[in-house]
Amino acid sequence: MYDGDVELGRNDDCWCGSGKKYKKCHLEFDERLEKLAQQGAQLPPRALLKTPAEVEAIKRSAQVNVGVLDLVAKKIGPGITTEEIDQWVYDYTTEHGAIPAPLDYEGFPKSVCTSVNEVVCHGIPSPDEVLKDGDIVNVDCSTILDGYFSDSSRMFCIGDVAPKVRELVEATKESIQVGLAEAQPWRPIGNIGAAINAFAKEHGYSVVREFGGHGIGLEFHEDPFVSFACRPDTGWLLVPGLMFTIEPMINMGKHRIDMSDPNGWTVRTKDGLPTAQWEVQVLMTDEGYELISW
Ligand code: MF3
Ligand code: CO
Repeated sequence: MYDGDVELGRNDDCWCGSGKKYKKCHLEFDERLEKLAQQGAQLPPRALLKTPAEVEAIKRSAQVNVGVLDLVAKKIGPGITTEEIDQWVYDYTTEHGAIPAPLDYEGFPKSVCTSVNEVVCHGIPSPDEVLKDGDIVNVDCSTILDGYFSDSSRMFCIGDVAPKVRELVEATKESIQVGLAEAQPWRPIGNIGAAINAFAKEHGYSVVREFGGHGIGLEFHEDPFVSFACRPDTGWLLVPGLMFTIEPMINMGKHRIDMSDPNGWTVRTKDGLPTAQWEVQVLMTDEGYELISW
């Protein structure tokens, strides 16, 4: 097999846990990978490809994650503090038997990231931060259920948002669809980021380079790093079973960021202009992709 595992016999049980014979399950798939590897294609290691059982478990995690964001969507508005959002996320997640993945992750102090206006990502919820009319905020939720990870984020417009800022939020949402259109099995992953980058540039925006998407499932952040400032026809092929996030950060002004906040987390645009981000988690399939969390 292509990444050096022990050869399976045609009549052995398939490695994916389906219970089917290898020849009726992943034999053809492995032969395809082996051939591509010989041709010099860049391929993910098989350990990153999710088995059907893993996909089911990750979907259960994502059900909680989507539920959290649906709850936030219902309750968010002017006068709410980002601390309150954190409390909703903690309560909903734990009441559903899950753990908020950000809590204590590399020292992150809260259950969710709330990034307001010029904050690019990793904003820390605070009782002193009151959402007011005209603000935009990204709420980035990640969940661990039975050891399986899900991760997605949405933007929320608070009250009356200036048309230019609302357009940034809408265009960033649309950029996810532009990226998903490139999420085609056996095509290079770089096409996703390249398409999103071109779309953002057409709108006069810029894309943050330092942060991007990531593999996910058995861990919070797995390989690959999914850049949104990359060239087409680069990176791993999108092999069915690969799971990752698409989460571009699009700035109204320049792409440069400021990471000097003493809290070690909050990332801002260098020019202080607004920025937006949406995040989805996807699984590559034989036919295309499946949305896992949104
Ligand atoms: N949810 C973020 C992502 O999309 C990661 C946040 S890490 C944290 O990858 F510690 F800040 F929560
Ligand atoms: Co993510």
